[in-house]
Amino acid sequence: MDRRSFLRFGGMAVSTLALAPRTWAEDMHAMHMAPADNTALLPVADFPAGRALPALQKLKNQANPAGQFQATLTAAARTVQFKPGLDTVVWAYNGQNPGPLIEVYEGDVLEIRLINQLTQPTTIHWHGLPVPPAQDGNPGDEVAPGTERIYRFSLPAGSAGTYWYHPHPHGHTAEQAYMGLAGPLIVRSRRDPLMGMPEQHLVLSDLKLGADGRIAGNSDMDWMNGREGQFVLVNGVLQPTITANGMQRWRLWNMCNARYLNLSLGEQPFRLVGTDGGLLEHARTVTQLLLAPGERAEIVVMGNGEIALQALAYDRGMMGDVPAPQTLTLARVALSGGATMPMPSHLRQITPLTPGGVQKRVVFSEQMSMAGGVHSMTPLINGKSYDMNRVDLISQRGAVEAWSLVNDSDMDHPFHLHGTQFQVVSRTHNGQTVPEPFLAWRDTVNLRPNETVLIHVVQPQAGARMFHCHILEHEDRGMMGILNVV
Ligand code: C2O
Ligand code: CU
Ligand code: CU
Repeated sequence: MDRRSFLRFGGMAVSTLALAPRTWAEDMHAMHMAPADNTALLPVADFPAGRALPALQKLKNQANPAGQFQATLTAAARTVQFKPGLDTVVWAYNGQNPGPLIEVYEGDVLEIRLINQLTQPTTIHWHGLPVPPAQDGNPGDEVAPGTERIYRFSLPAGSAGTYWYHPHPHGHTAEQAYMGLAGPLIVRSRRDPLMGMPEQHLVLSDLKLGADGRIAGNSDMDWMNGREGQFVLVNGVLQPTITANGMQRWRLWNMCNARYLNLSLGEQPFRLVGTDGGLLEHARTVTQLLLAPGERAEIVVMGNGEIALQALAYDRGMMGDVPAPQTLTLARVALSGGATMPMPSHLRQITPLTPGGVQKRVVFSEQMSMAGGVHSMTPLINGKSYDMNRVDLISQRGAVEAWSLVNDSDMDHPFHLHGTQFQVVSRTHNGQTVPEPFLAWRDTVNLRPNETVLIHVVQPQAGARMFHCHILEHEDRGMMGILNVV
């Protein structure tokens, strides 16, 4: 008798009931139901909501000379109370969730000391920045518990944009990120055309919190689909209120392990002015903006009235018995003042990359198995699982290449490449090729099921670079490869 029919007929006879618990337990065992699947989650109503959006705390520069940025990030556990009276252990950089905002300028030289006070190895990866491979926190280049190291790199001209930093240790990236280790990084330009426009920063992160106050571990379903908790936090708080008087430039980070954020301000249009790697050439008026895990954007918001910032329901093809995608309210926004300054018609020049003839193909796929009654999915790139000791692709430094990113699976996967920013050229879906309508610098691009995205890309520095799915559970489960730049 399976579990469902037991529950249906369990009341029929005392003798059946007496036998039932053992039968059920055996049944559960046979089905290999992971106990983590059944972790009771904290009811959403128990979580305080509605406070004013807290500003991100900045990482203080300890260096005096101009153009130098020196600071320390200490990764350690700490106890917080999301719900008053209920202790939650999180992992944090310098005791902050999200991690402190690193704010630097093009041309700056950074020296960031990482002190690892966790009980597992970690690294810091500088997501989106052209950092030398030895300074980029690659898997395998780990900082052991109780030890430290310094990451040193400089920021080239033209790198102004919205980036982030997070751990990248082999097999533990998802866990360290969902425990709270991730922070924003802004590279500024001294000739920013939007200089003078007030800014707000919205770091969007996912939280799966148990009723016992513990951050829940990943269930088998989380490993398969990518983890989504019951909360999406903005700068670490639930459904804050945001006040915008006049035009504002918002920087948005999707730091969720797996959650897609199809952002909307209801009827109120807004301007998309920047992507991962900085400003576009021209502002684009939009009413929706899909941010896949890992992606960032810059928008200009203006208007009048009380509206909601929402993540509209987005079907990313999750497998198994999961609830239908839902629309979430991320924040309440009070807009006033309307347009208070002219939008520059031209934001910056982006020169299209011209490929030299080298082509590459990167195919994301999923291998399903029912071995031993366990429903499992192995995510693969070009038919293989990540191997730290294998080089998957080789590129020449400085050579512009054309990469076809193919999603040969039934689920969305966000492709991410280290060490550079690329340009999306076209997207092909159901036999229809749509040229990308505008030039933009990106380091992460979503691949829908059966979609092929063509990018042009060049790597400025030699060494080993990762490319992977930015659903961090998929990355940890092997949806990652190594590009050796020679
Ligand atoms: Cu944000 Cu390799 O990752
Ligand atoms: Cu990265
Ligand atoms: Cu994936």
